Amino acid sequence: MTVPKVIVIGKMNDIVIEKLQEQCELKIWDKPTPIPEQLLKDWLKNAEGMISRGDVKVDEDLLSHAPALRVIAQSSVGYDNVDLDACTKHSVPFGNTPGVLVEATADLTFGLVLSSARRIQEGWEYVKEGKWDSPFNIPLGVDLYGKTLGIVGMGNIGRSVAKRAQASGMEIIYHNRSQRDENEILGAKYVSFDGLLEQSDFVVVLVPLSDSSRQLFGKKQFSKMKSTSRFINASRGAVVDTEALYEALVNKEIAYAALDVTDPEPINTDHPIINLENILITPHIGSATHETRLAMATLTVDNVLAGLNGKKLPTCVNNSVNYSSML
Ligand code: DGY
Repeated sequence: MTVPKVIVIGKMNDIVIEKLQEQCELKIWDKPTPIPEQLLKDWLKNAEGMISRGDVKVDEDLLSHAPALRVIAQSSVGYDNVDLDACTKHSVPFGNTPGVLVEATADLTFGLVLSSARRIQEGWEYVKEGKWDSPFNIPLGVDLYGKTLGIVGMGNIGRSVAKRAQASGMEIIYHNRSQRDENEILGAKYVSFDGLLEQSDFVVVLVPLSDSSRQLFGKKQFSKMKSTSRFINASRGAVVDTEALYEALVNKEIAYAALDVTDPEPINTDHPIINLENILITPHIGSATHETRLAMATLTVDNVLAGLNGKKLPTCVNNSVNYSSML
């Protein structure tokens, strides 16, 4: 029996690598830098499985160098680096990791909401810089209680953020391309995109990156928001026009931004937005906990093994793929 060859791009937990190694021959690129294109194409010549990463462009060109490929899996819920139609055309199922990262990402997103309201990080800077010279000289924030949280992109993560916000006494409104009943049951009210921008005290962005969401937030959108509003992005950096956000923060068209994602990533430390006082940026850590990353890696390996065995992936994105042609 031949052992299937699998490419692994990214650093994965030893436990899941060992599980994969029991059944497959691995070629591993675990450096944080992108894998050189030619090396990947060489490896793909006889690979049957691939674990990809957000910095790999999975498109027609790459797939045309992968004649034996039968499955691709990736440890993320987002897959904006992947051309799904090309995967389907090549009969390659693609699996992502929804579900397992919902609570961790919701925690981080709500942490950014809370921090933007209560200036937690500024408070720490204040203490370190020796500005806390009296118990009566402290920076004031704003309440969450009674405020309106607007979620753009109400999916599983959005609903988990909404639960946390409701526990803090917030009103929830949301905008999706289509209204979803289960969000009404949670007490979240559907509003138009402009209505959300105008009414929200906190705007939380959780949309996947696509042609329709790229640069969704620009000058016009920031100008519609309250000057006291706080903007939180935990989806993809390219959903926002960074220059427009910078201007909106400088001109106090909005009060504050808390970002877990930037465009590009990592953001250049020379960018003037870094030095503003009304911004907090974290390095794309939405799902970055030990437990969640292990669960994501385990699901990724389960997806790969299912694909190699000609079975339906536990979490396949391109469900219309022709599985039978893989056997
Ligand atoms: C995801 O799962 O898409 C996270 O943003 C990590 O890339």
